[in-house]
Amino acid sequence: MTDIQERPTAEIGVIGGSGLYELLADVTEVRVATPYGEPSDVLSVGEVAGRRVAFLPRHGRGHRLPPHRIDYRANLWALHSLGVRQVLGPCAVGGLRPEPGPGTLLVPDQFVDRTSGRVQTYYDGQPLPDGSVPEVVHVSAADPYCPHGRGSALAAAAGAAWEAVDGGTMVVIEGPRFSTRAESRWFSANGWSVVGMTGHPEAVLARELGLCYTSIALVTDLDAGVESGAGVTHTEVLAEFARNVERLRTVLFKAVELLPVERACPCARALDGLTTGLPGVPGA
Ligand code: ADE
Repeated sequence: MTDIQERPTAEIGVIGGSGLYELLADVTEVRVATPYGEPSDVLSVGEVAGRRVAFLPRHGRGHRLPPHRIDYRANLWALHSLGVRQVLGPCAVGGLRPEPGPGTLLVPDQFVDRTSGRVQTYYDGQPLPDGSVPEVVHVSAADPYCPHGRGSALAAAAGAAWEAVDGGTMVVIEGPRFSTRAESRWFSANGWSVVGMTGHPEAVLARELGLCYTSIALVTDLDAGVESGAGVTHTEVLAEFARNVERLRTVLFKAVELLPVERACPCARALDGLTTGLPGVPGA
């Protein structure tokens, strides 16, 4: 295990969701301390297609952390501190209409926040452990995902003969319970495509650090308002994820390869003119 003084660097981060607890072989593991607390686990840094990649299992290995206990700020901060500037966020979601069904990959272009009480900013004007106080900053979340990252993910899926749905709205619920049928029907009636528990605040925290963030959602089930059976179960979610995890890994590797080396997207400039910087975070 590498400690923080001699830590490796990476340019791309992958935050693995339910069922994806390891990504790379031949890694250096690094434990990163952050002003916000512990990331979900140690980070594993390795190489894919000549690109340096840091992997972090969102729920921790063994799925120790439910969605509302994940320290999203610590996770993104830890990745940023290793040099990561582009993040891929695979996650499991439920489908809100009969099609696309389980086994579909969807690259959302919008999300709706139905979580409650999750800290969703680094810029909250409250002192950090070192006494520094971040400013108050309001970033734009109008287009929450990186357009170039989305393009890379879609091209990677097509290249792996797993055509992904291009766009759609992911509603993010607080969890850990699944939705009632009424909630689920309401989500569908609003035109939203899929429902998950971890897409927020991950994307907006990435934006606050000037990172590119791309959500890659794997539909593992039909949500309670769509299917007529007993409702979604965690076992069902994990089983469908396991059925698809190898090809998801292929898509992630290909997406890493396709991500631009030089960032020309708006994400890199998201903080321009808004802040002099976040204390302790060079370049954010
Ligand atoms: N993750 C996977 N399936 C889900 C569902 N139906 N609702 C919320 N999160 C999910």
